Amino acid sequence: MELKGLSKKDMLRFKNLANEREKVIKTEKNLKLDLSYKTNEVAKSLHPTVQYVKVDNIIKENENVKTFVLAPDESLGTTKLAYFQAGQYVSLKVKIGTGIYRRPYSISCSPKYTLKENKYTITVKRVKDGIVSNYLFDKVEIGDQLEISGPAGNFYYQPLRDSQNIIAIAGGSGITPIFSIARAIFDGVIDANMVILYGNKTKNDIIFSEQLDDMVCKTNKIKVVNVLSEDEDTEFEKGFITKDLIDKYLSEENSFFVCGPKEMYQYINEILKEYAIPKKFVRHDLFMSDIETKGDEEYNLLVMYNDMEVNIKCYGDKTLLAAMEEAGIPALSRCHVGECGFCRSKLISGKVKTFDTHLRSADRRFSYIHPCSTYPESDVVIKLPF
Ligand code: FES
Repeated sequence: MELKGLSKKDMLRFKNLANEREKVIKTEKNLKLDLSYKTNEVAKSLHPTVQYVKVDNIIKENENVKTFVLAPDESLGTTKLAYFQAGQYVSLKVKIGTGIYRRPYSISCSPKYTLKENKYTITVKRVKDGIVSNYLFDKVEIGDQLEISGPAGNFYYQPLRDSQNIIAIAGGSGITPIFSIARAIFDGVIDANMVILYGNKTKNDIIFSEQLDDMVCKTNKIKVVNVLSEDEDTEFEKGFITKDLIDKYLSEENSFFVCGPKEMYQYINEILKEYAIPKKFVRHDLFMSDIETKGDEEYNLLVMYNDMEVNIKCYGDKTLLAAMEEAGIPALSRCHVGECGFCRSKLISGKVKTFDTHLRSADRRFSYIHPCSTYPESDVVIKLPF
């Protein structure tokens, strides 16, 4: 068979290519192989494992929310921040006391801002008893050095998969990835229309209020509907995001992007079921499924890594990853909800319970687990992937 545009001679040359190459490598003594393969270099710059950053600025959004502007830390070798898709997150690694913690935070700026300024912004809400969010709020200052992962996550607009009409449903600080997507639409990076249904308790809880209003005034591609559950304000919708409210903004075909607290996911999922929308049109940002744990019993957790065995305590109401973080074991993680696979480890022995819906069936069969979404129900032995 002759392929269009290729002669038989070309085909023959192609067939002999591997042999020819091997011959040259063996015979050519002074052959210098190109050690930096361009494709690998590009892949590395797009998906770095680690990025070192410095806090360039801290903006107080409200009493409980701060935006951290992060710039590359050239003193540690990061000169350019990786490009990201609006809606993705970075995993922040911090050492607090003897513990090593990683937490995913959505990038709240637009990709265009990062290209232009070589900076990211992450917007963090102080969480009651949240070790990392409280640390960021109380201890981190301008100039501090931080370590983050490359951009990760699947919560972003894909033109080939998504409808051009996005209905974004956000609750509280769940607005951060949605704000980034809105910015990207505003900047012309994404060609879509978006209605944001944004639920909060009170007017003071609304994050990015001015920036959202500003975009709404300047483009008809973005619409924002604020819904307040506790404030009586005629300017806003009162109560919760209901099916009747969503109905008002439905187009013939829609992609739904949902991000908010756990309770909101359950509630919104029930509503979305009624529309019987194809699965590909419904996106959730990182969230944990509910799991009933047996209580806070104390167990032993033996962790094998780097040819070492470390014995620590773990508890029935905390994930295995949480126990390792507290003990300062450098377990890998990114998403913390069983999605990314970064923490995948071998369960050597013990009884565990998991809310993981992403674990592959082969992993289940060969006793691999995601410690970020697994709780102990007995003494446990696990082997980390390093
Ligand atoms: S951290 Fe992502 S799967 Fe565990």
